[in-house]
Amino acid sequence: MTAHEAAAPAAEHGAAPTEAAFRAVHGAAPAGIWAAPGRVNLIGEHTDYNDGFVLPLALTHTTIAAAAPRTDGILRLHSGNVDGGIVELRTDDLRPAPRDTAARSASTWGGDGRRAEGWAAYPAGVVRAMREAGLPVGGADLHFDSTVPTGAGLSSSAALEVVTALALNDLYALGLAPQRLARLAQRAENAFVGVPCGIMDQTAAACATEGHALFLDTRDLHSRQVPFDVAAQGLRLLVVDTRVKHELGDGAYAERRAGCERGARVLGVPALRDVPYAQLTDALAMLADAPDIRALVRHVVTENRRVEEVVAHLDAGDIRAIGPLLTAGHASLRDDFAVSCAELDLAVDAALAAGAVGARMTGGGFGGSAIVLVDDVQADAVDAAVTAAFAAAGHTAPRIFTAVPGPGARRLA
Ligand code: GLA
Repeated sequence: MTAHEAAAPAAEHGAAPTEAAFRAVHGAAPAGIWAAPGRVNLIGEHTDYNDGFVLPLALTHTTIAAAAPRTDGILRLHSGNVDGGIVELRTDDLRPAPRDTAARSASTWGGDGRRAEGWAAYPAGVVRAMREAGLPVGGADLHFDSTVPTGAGLSSSAALEVVTALALNDLYALGLAPQRLARLAQRAENAFVGVPCGIMDQTAAACATEGHALFLDTRDLHSRQVPFDVAAQGLRLLVVDTRVKHELGDGAYAERRAGCERGARVLGVPALRDVPYAQLTDALAMLADAPDIRALVRHVVTENRRVEEVVAHLDAGDIRAIGPLLTAGHASLRDDFAVSCAELDLAVDAALAAGAVGARMTGGGFGGSAIVLVDDVQADAVDAAVTAAFAAAGHTAPRIFTAVPGPGARRLA
């Protein structure tokens, strides 16, 4: 562990403290304990809402839920990470956030004029999404504890949604497969929180396995576990949390998404996934009058190609070979998709200058985290160089930690 990792968020936390907290908050034993992880995306950014390819991996940072069913249709939500007591809602009264405020204020209506503001909108939204799908889900007591950093682009919201979906799946014996739980979690975020995200984060949280990255074709949801034993190859994957608050609901994400859809319409394809890499030059020529859309299309088409190339290297057992592809992915997100920021660029540039094998921003962008692939022996030097570069630029100190590809959502007890 480096000096900076000591200040980084601890990943591990067990079921016992969450069980004890549940008893203290809800006054009885939980029926079970479940966990779902945060994620980083190795490559395949802003491709999931274009029916494209993604390659995320689960972190060992998780959200743990203790839960018990209720027979009175009441949902009682409590978080060990947030001050403010129990949020109590009637499952019958849960409503989507009103359209005009949906994009900014995560709020799911809970009847009696009460709203599930902020964090509670995510689990409440999952309950609503399940009921809307006709699933026999009633009330529940829930308590959550999380080690997934929030606002860091590491999918703390997907972890919260998926752990809720998994707990309810067991409490109400729904028998749903992980991929279905991921869809319901995405529906909760799209319709009830108001963020128009794709399916990547929820699928990573629900379906990842230890020691692997998850290759997902977001069109047909076909997925495959790709070996990613980075430590065995003398390498390390660092996460650099820039501490710049990442806010997906601020409209820029939705704008990029709308731009991609416009591009697909102009090109006459169902989604940008359908533009083959070999025909990129022709496609770009058709968009000569629309430089903004052109740049978005170029990113998506080249990024899908990079995912396929990275997967081919990983299948061949050569993790080091993916370095330049990660770095090229960053340049494309910075220059064409325009979702990077000064701190992310600095993290990437400083890491590469200090000898990293490859580096890129990960997740939606506009802040959040970067990932850095580095030789084990070089990791401390890269960590120190990035930290020094942030200090010299007057930025808040980043939090840097090692990503270990962990398991997806599971029952702990
Ligand atoms: C966020 C969204 C994902 C995906 C990424 C960008 O994490 O939740 O669905 O679109 O941004 O790749």
